[in-house]
Amino acid sequence: MDEFQSLLQTIQRLFGIQCTNYKEDYIKRRLASRMNARRIATYREYQEYLLKHPEEHEPLKNALTINVTKFFRDPAVFECIRNEILIPMLRQQNRIRIWSAGCSSGEEPYSYAMMLYDQTLIRKDIDWQVIATDIDDVILGKAREGVYDKSALEFVNERQLHRHFTRRADGKFEIKPHIREKVRFQHHDLMSGVPVQHGLDIVSCRNVTIYFSDPQKNDLVRMFYQGLRPGGYYIMGMSEFLGREVENLFIPFKPLQKIFIRKD
Ligand SMILES: C[S@@+](CC[C@H](N)C(=O)[O-])C[C@H]1O[C@@H](n2cnc3c(N)ncnc32)[C@H](O)[C@@H]1O
Repeated sequence: MDEFQSLLQTIQRLFGIQCTNYKEDYIKRRLASRMNARRIATYREYQEYLLKHPEEHEPLKNALTINVTKFFRDPAVFECIRNEILIPMLRQQNRIRIWSAGCSSGEEPYSYAMMLYDQTLIRKDIDWQVIATDIDDVILGKAREGVYDKSALEFVNERQLHRHFTRRADGKFEIKPHIREKVRFQHHDLMSGVPVQHGLDIVSCRNVTIYFSDPQKNDLVRMFYQGLRPGGYYIMGMSEFLGREVENLFIPFKPLQKIFIRKD
């Protein structure tokens, strides 16, 4: 068996991703992006790296399944966002703006909307909105449609399921209008500046920057800094890191959950 086939077997064993379902070219391009990021030249070396470095698993999985997402992806992070950010924020202000950047098929922004809806049921004075952007128009169409397979709902609890989804005849679940209308979807390339008004309370850009070079990542972080209000929150994906050049712009708030606060 050649090096490439052997690497595919390892990937299947580690993640259950059957690479032979994809075009070989596509897989090779995706692998190349990760190998470049790690400065690795051969499939054999990368296979060894993968086996020795569990921290490479998540970026590779994301690179292979580029739009993959879930409601409340990383439930402990969303738990923290609800309890440590949203609830205290609602005690102090009556206007909240969240930007979900690289929102894919909508699960992330709808998760924020469900949490805010549930927390403001008896607070009709709160003006809140989630702005959700992505570069991929096809995936944005799916996000606006708001129809999901059961597998996307693994971390949605029974109460949320009944309150915020309608079960359709085909077995899929459709997000209800009271949540859908609170999320504004918009096409946007993250390389082209802040797409919304400044003074944001939260920028959630999770599992997106793994495809970017270090200078691009740093530019992005500077842009998020500009978009956020002082004291606003920047939330990254679990396998993403703040670069040295830009870490002085933020204070770690919950480093384990990859949540940072914009400095004044
Ligand atoms: C793995 S998904 C992440 C979805 C969600 N944020 C999450 O963590 O579950 C990455 C998304 O980033 C989007 N993306 C990649 N490059 C982008 C760019 N330059 N501008 C905007 N979105 C981008 C992709 O289209 C994809 O939908």
